[in-house]
Amino acid sequence: MSLKSLTLLHEKATSYSKYPLSIPVIRQLHEMTFPTEVTFFVGENGSGKSTLLEAIADKAGFNTAGGGVNHMYDVHRSEASLGDYIRLSWLPKHRRGFFLRAESFYNFASYLDQNPNLLISFGGKSLLSESHGESFMRLFKEKFNGKALYLLDEPEAALSPQRQLSLLRLIKDSTEVDGAQYIIATHSPILLGYPGATIYNFDAAPLEAIAYEDTEHYSVTKYFVNHRERILHELFKEEEEEAGQ
Ligand SMILES: Nc1ncnc2c1ncn2[C@@H]1O[C@H](COP(=O)(O)OP(=O)(O)O)[C@@H](O)[C@H]1O
Ligand SMILES: [Mg+2]
Repeated sequence: MSLKSLTLLHEKATSYSKYPLSIPVIRQLHEMTFPTEVTFFVGENGSGKSTLLEAIADKAGFNTAGGGVNHMYDVHRSEASLGDYIRLSWLPKHRRGFFLRAESFYNFASYLDQNPNLLISFGGKSLLSESHGESFMRLFKEKFNGKALYLLDEPEAALSPQRQLSLLRLIKDSTEVDGAQYIIATHSPILLGYPGATIYNFDAAPLEAIAYEDTEHYSVTKYFVNHRERILHELFKEEEEEAGQ
């Protein structure tokens, strides 16, 4: 593990009314620490998880459209201007790592297909020749080794529940054997269950670390699975009443 903390450089801020400093969690951020090998970002859509993840990728030198430092492909390269406002503290410093967003995985796979030399380092077989989930897992298995920082944006989008469990196992092995570090933005109650992880809640500003059981992902999923009939009844009640009139 080597990324220790992130500091927001407020002295550089010119406007808090424009993206990215307009995001409440970011505006109120001073320092964020990474005390465990796995850190999760959770929060509503639009709460700033991807923005912060991209800023870290940008600052660490990873391509912010999703890839490692050697994959400077430029398909829909996303903005990551928050990178200009943060400082990363490493111990020790290294630049190895990977930024992967499930939504741009197709672009990444296409890019590899067009660069046979790179494709060899991914096992030589096109990532597009398998299903999204299969190729995603293959990428994890072949690439997630060695001491590095892995930034994952909603990796569950491609993965069945069973494969999410496999991913937990891969993460555990690579942190224990290789000293890898992960920062993962997710909505998955399965991934969030990783033991001993730090979970940052982006729905509260200032940002705070919360327990697994205190995440909405855990409580809403648990409640839904246990009381599905009742919840659906409540949810659809108005419509049924209206339809009955
Ligand atoms: N390039 C951009 N320019 C302006 N606003 C943006 C940009 N990217 C994201 N936003 C806005 O910033 C907020 C946070 O977005 P994002 O970090 O993607 O949230 P999350 O990943 O938590 O869903 C949203 O309101 C979004 O619309
Ligand atoms: Mg996002």
